[in-house]
Amino acid sequence: MDKLVIEGGVPLTGSIDVSGSKNAALPILFAAILVDGTADLGNVPRLRDIQTTLRLLEMLGCDCQREADRVLVTPGQLKAEAPYDLVRTMRASVLCLGPLLARIGQARVALPGGCAIGARPVDQHLKALEQMGARFELEEGYILGRCRQLKGAHITFDMPTVGGTENLLMASVLAEGETVLENVAREPEVVDLANFLVACGAQIEGQGTSCIRIRGVSSLQGAAYAVMPDRIEAGTFLVAAGITGGELLLRQCPFSDLEAVILKLQGMGMSITTTAEGVLARCAGPLRGTDVTTRPHPGFPTDMQAQIMALMCLAEGSSVVEESIFENRFMHVLELMRMGAQIRVSGHTAMVRGVRRLTGAPVMASDLRASASLVLAGLAARGVTEVRRIYHLDRGYEQIEHKLNAVGARIRREQE
Ligand code: EPZ
Repeated sequence: MDKLVIEGGVPLTGSIDVSGSKNAALPILFAAILVDGTADLGNVPRLRDIQTTLRLLEMLGCDCQREADRVLVTPGQLKAEAPYDLVRTMRASVLCLGPLLARIGQARVALPGGCAIGARPVDQHLKALEQMGARFELEEGYILGRCRQLKGAHITFDMPTVGGTENLLMASVLAEGETVLENVAREPEVVDLANFLVACGAQIEGQGTSCIRIRGVSSLQGAAYAVMPDRIEAGTFLVAAGITGGELLLRQCPFSDLEAVILKLQGMGMSITTTAEGVLARCAGPLRGTDVTTRPHPGFPTDMQAQIMALMCLAEGSSVVEESIFENRFMHVLELMRMGAQIRVSGHTAMVRGVRRLTGAPVMASDLRASASLVLAGLAARGVTEVRRIYHLDRGYEQIEHKLNAVGARIRREQE
């Protein structure tokens, strides 16, 4: 296993290119199962989870070609099985459920276990697909799904679920008749998936609102499509500028998709402005604490909670963080405290009291965004921080140490 060795204390200055979005690319890759012909996808980031998805697509009978940030996916004779050994490494594999039922009327997908941040059930996915005529059994940890022909339905989710919305979008585009999805997730990544499907000939309206209408069509044709930039990677780099007291220009930064995050960072004392070249972020003075509650989009994204908490640790005054989406997403707290942070957790709420400085220490990554939070803290800390188990980080950040070292960071990747 690798670790990152970070010498902190350097203000980062320069420009960074934001990569394509992991959480948009994953559902779009699974949606390629639905097309006749080839999905020609651009701006696909080089990440562990993308590699895992391409392996799974090949096991399902798709031909996958990768050239730089371009991926070509051509479905062939489709198979129905997504094996546990693969699904357990990436729970987003459950996104093959909708497309397989839509195309071949069957799916055998390992039930994704929980993960560090929570139980991550998929009951909403199954309940909604059953309303469209699918039938499921649970057998030896696998979800067995069958249907003759999915039929349009009027579905209301119990809560906005990104994966649930994406699975039902993909199930509906080839279904018989119209499907109405209510109380859906409004995340930009859901909109990107819908826009890809429309480019392939699907009839979808309302994406980005809480109600999406899909009129089923008989087939979809392959299309060329560029995946949106990764707003969470971009948000992580905005925090990197603030926490190191530097100035970063982010190219391909999706400013409007980060509104809730940018407003909070500006409220803490950062200057974040759009220029012709990209988004310019810098510290405009001492940072002040703030309060954050994570919410479905357009609220403050849970995927930025750990990162902004690292910044709060060095802000004047106190901050309160409420994690309302996942039940166990404070795994970074104890590690930040090893670096001198003053944080108290009570249930789903963390109280952060700002300190003058953090000190480098060996810390352990536990999940993707907690890892990013520890890297950010290490960039600001006095001395050396070793972040271990960074395979978590490699799932969602493309060459993070190369991008950060190019703007002044001192990070080495070493064998643990
Ligand atoms: C997606 O996960 C993202 N992953 C997550 O990003 C992100 O944190 C999450 O959405 C919320 O924004 C991808 O897009 C690949 P949900 P997903 O279904 O779809 C509950 C990262 O760091 N729920 O919107 O699994 C669930 O327990 C990852 O990049 C049910 O109860 O999230 C949670 O409390 C981490 N039943 C809430 O809904 C269901 O059937 C939101 O989960 C489905 C979800």
